[in-house]
Amino acid sequence: MILEKFYENPEILHVGTEENRCYYVPLDVQEKENARNLSGIDWKFGYYPNVESVPEFYKKDFDEEAFGRLEVPSCWQMLGFDQKQYTNIRYPFPFDPPFVPDENPCGAYIKYFDISAAEAKKEQYLYFEGVDSCFYVWINGKFVGYSQVSHSPSEFNITGKTKTGMNKLAVLVLKWCDGSYLEDQDKFRMSGIFRDVHLLFRPAEHVRDYTVATPVDFEKNRAEVEVRINEAAGNPRITCELWDKDNLLGECAVEDGKASFPVEAPVLWNAEEPYQYILKIKTPEEILIQRVGIRTVNIKDGVVLINNRPVKFKGVNRHDSSPYTGAVVSRMDAMFDLRIMKEANINAIRTSHYPNAPWLPELCSEYGFYMIAEADIESHGAATIYGGSTEGTFSYFVQDPSYKMAILDRVQRSVIRDKNQCGVIFWSLGNESGFGTNMEEAGRWVKNYDPTRLLHYESVHFQPEGHEKDESMLDVESHMYASTQQIDAYFAEPGEKKPFVQCEFIHAMGNGPGDIEDYMQQIYRYDGFCGGFVWEWCDHATYEGRAENGKEMFHYGGDAGEFPHDGNFCMDGLVFPDRRPHEGLYEWKNAIRPVRAELLDRKKGVIRLYNKLDFRNIKDYIYIHYEIKEEGILLEEGMIEDLEAAPHSFTDITLKLPGKPKDHCYLKLTYYQKAKDKLTQIGHELGFDQFALSEDKDVRLTLQKNGEPLTLTETPEVFRMENSSVCYEFGKKQGSFLKLEKNGKACITAPVEWNVYRAPTDNDRNIVLSWKEAGYDRSVVKVYGCEARVKQGTVAITCDFSMAAVYIQPFLRLHAVWSINGEGEIKVAVDGKRDTSFPFLPRFGLKFHLPQEEQEVTYLGYGPHESYCDKHQASYVDVFHTIVPQLHVDYVRPQENGSHYNCSSIQVGGLQASGSRPFSFSASEYTIQELEAKHHNYELEPSGSVIVCTDYKQSGVGSNSCGPELLPQYRLDEDQFHWEMLYRFE
Ligand code: GAL
Repeated sequence: MILEKFYENPEILHVGTEENRCYYVPLDVQEKENARNLSGIDWKFGYYPNVESVPEFYKKDFDEEAFGRLEVPSCWQMLGFDQKQYTNIRYPFPFDPPFVPDENPCGAYIKYFDISAAEAKKEQYLYFEGVDSCFYVWINGKFVGYSQVSHSPSEFNITGKTKTGMNKLAVLVLKWCDGSYLEDQDKFRMSGIFRDVHLLFRPAEHVRDYTVATPVDFEKNRAEVEVRINEAAGNPRITCELWDKDNLLGECAVEDGKASFPVEAPVLWNAEEPYQYILKIKTPEEILIQRVGIRTVNIKDGVVLINNRPVKFKGVNRHDSSPYTGAVVSRMDAMFDLRIMKEANINAIRTSHYPNAPWLPELCSEYGFYMIAEADIESHGAATIYGGSTEGTFSYFVQDPSYKMAILDRVQRSVIRDKNQCGVIFWSLGNESGFGTNMEEAGRWVKNYDPTRLLHYESVHFQPEGHEKDESMLDVESHMYASTQQIDAYFAEPGEKKPFVQCEFIHAMGNGPGDIEDYMQQIYRYDGFCGGFVWEWCDHATYEGRAENGKEMFHYGGDAGEFPHDGNFCMDGLVFPDRRPHEGLYEWKNAIRPVRAELLDRKKGVIRLYNKLDFRNIKDYIYIHYEIKEEGILLEEGMIEDLEAAPHSFTDITLKLPGKPKDHCYLKLTYYQKAKDKLTQIGHELGFDQFALSEDKDVRLTLQKNGEPLTLTETPEVFRMENSSVCYEFGKKQGSFLKLEKNGKACITAPVEWNVYRAPTDNDRNIVLSWKEAGYDRSVVKVYGCEARVKQGTVAITCDFSMAAVYIQPFLRLHAVWSINGEGEIKVAVDGKRDTSFPFLPRFGLKFHLPQEEQEVTYLGYGPHESYCDKHQASYVDVFHTIVPQLHVDYVRPQENGSHYNCSSIQVGGLQASGSRPFSFSASEYTIQELEAKHHNYELEPSGSVIVCTDYKQSGVGSNSCGPELLPQYRLDEDQFHWEMLYRFE
């Protein structure tokens, strides 16, 4: 087939399309849709490797025998065509703009639709919600037009090209076009008609585009709902009605394209209480219904205000992504996302890095989410070309005059589509495309077109050579992954400032994120820090059925054999691909809980409750259940229902707290929802706070006195200590136990090991290189001296040893004192000296291999979620009972997981352990090596033992997969340490 090469011409973006308009589906006077959704399974489809091999399938007499069927909407890669590919920055084709490869896969679509005699009298429009990447359209063999911009709609007027009866719609979709250079988003690259296609039947005269504004006079407590008609077909008589639920508030004719409704004592919209009015725009044969949230957005003294009140965005970055359908998401899928977000206290969404489905902003306005609505622009691949750099080529497209129209077009399309949605607080010019004149112009256009919202763009931090940049149109200082130090520095600088926002932070890849609370402290500390958006909402993967062992297979970059790819960098969400929450979601949820408590006066039992909401009094929203527990045993519990605190203020409550509690006494306050909300239920748990009521003190670990005395014997290899029930062997070269046998039963299946390594988490991806350089992954023990003696039936072993890897000097020198009594109890006290020229340690501790049947676990420490020194917002201290497989967190790419921080005592099967100070532990059926070696969870093979790690400490997990380095306070980098543990076997 020969096509006009619009697809390699960035100055011809759309042919035969209508002007941009806001998104709506027109209704007839009975309020029934004046539209037909053409989506369905009855589309015919032919896949071709390039344009030249496509037959003239659009012609009426084309023989469609060879065509198969394909559901629309869909991504053809998810249905067996072409190549699945996940790449982040690097373009999946040679960088030669505006040209694209000649081998440019094509999807030829045919759909037949019927038009009745009545419909034939109407104006007919074809409305494509989203097609990736560009497409040509024919009706009944006649060319209708061409369009691009994958994530924005395209509309064609097909009146006069159709006939009564059956019509043939032919659409040719190309995988790549000049616009693909601007769609270099970090995701699986998918092609096809991936959003709905509508056929609209409209009267000859109708409204095409309108803008709603809602200025508020706060002093007079009144608002104005202003409607402006921007475009109409013909010159219809237009009237508007404003409704408050079933009450008609006003009705008026549109004059000079304008109508306006005063609203006295308006109920203002905000994400916590998303109240909307209903606007009806009526022409004689048609009604457009627009929900209207009355709210204002502005900045005062460097603070973002909604309805004149400061707000904090507790957000996430969201892609349209499904492991089953790729970029195709249904409203049900999206509602599922929104519901989990609401349940997790999330109040904001950045649509990264393109306009999400056109109805998503409606849902956000309806259910209460603030939005950063982003244009379909990302071109960071320009920085990775040969000789390229972030300082230089990164800004290629935003400076190139031939892409000027394209940049403006994409920004306009995103703004015009969603402009009547109150949820949209910020427009965003796109992501990671550098800065230059094209972006500046687009930015100025936005501010001029819509002065009622704020403008965001993070990639402004690049100054193209020889160009004095103008960023005056940008309202906020946006950063991604700024460290806490950088944020402090920003606010420490004197002078006026734009509000600060982290459009991406807390990189939620794999086991993590571990730095949430540090950022939350800053968000609450600085008025000008308006919040942040976690990167990102969901893991992206493709579902590939079940493995032989029955486990579901989720694939990421490289699994389809593609090049280039970015491995599992797409698996960085707060939820798994199928939306099961990650541990990170629970962390984020409690960090952004609506109430935070402070134990103000321990003696008097005064607790201060801070209302962290921006609009709601907690009075009708929250009740508290409190419980006081000692070593997991409930001492007291109760409810507090009568609370009152205005947003951003506090209230004090008083509880009778035990005067002199025993050890491990804790007060936990759990916040529950009082009334049903649109997406959440009565009794929904919103978060909690916990306070230690007993003092934190070191425990003296002592061996029991009784027990049959041990005898001690020695070989060149081992010390053997035994009595009628105990038979232990201590390896003189290993500096630990080789054999632990009690009552004739082996307590371990392999020698006890000193361990400093962990299966690298995704967030360890940088530091693990240093760890491996230091040999932490393969260190061995060298014992310099080891002595044992027996005194009153108790054996004491002292041991001097070091840890080092082949060809590398020791990184740790250790002195351990072991005591073993006739009951088989083992106490160890170890002093360590670290060579500080080495990187910080992943962990330090003792590792046991227990027999496989030792499955039951009880621990007193942070649970039930996996917890680390920097990741325990979702956890609290209690006594937890579980089993080994339940401790495993099944990350799609296996890694260190399931540790529990701040434990005082644990029991795994017959092994009991307690520490003089809190320690960390994990118990897993998988070895560290297995967790490191396997690329997917379904490949993991159990070791046949239960591997228990008791750790003096484990370094935090952080978010360094993309975020800043692990904060110093969470690193195991002490130059000296002392650790004491007591182990018992039942
Ligand atoms: C950011 C980018 C995101 C994503 C993230 C890494 O730089 O804006 O799209 O790629 O890094 O997961």
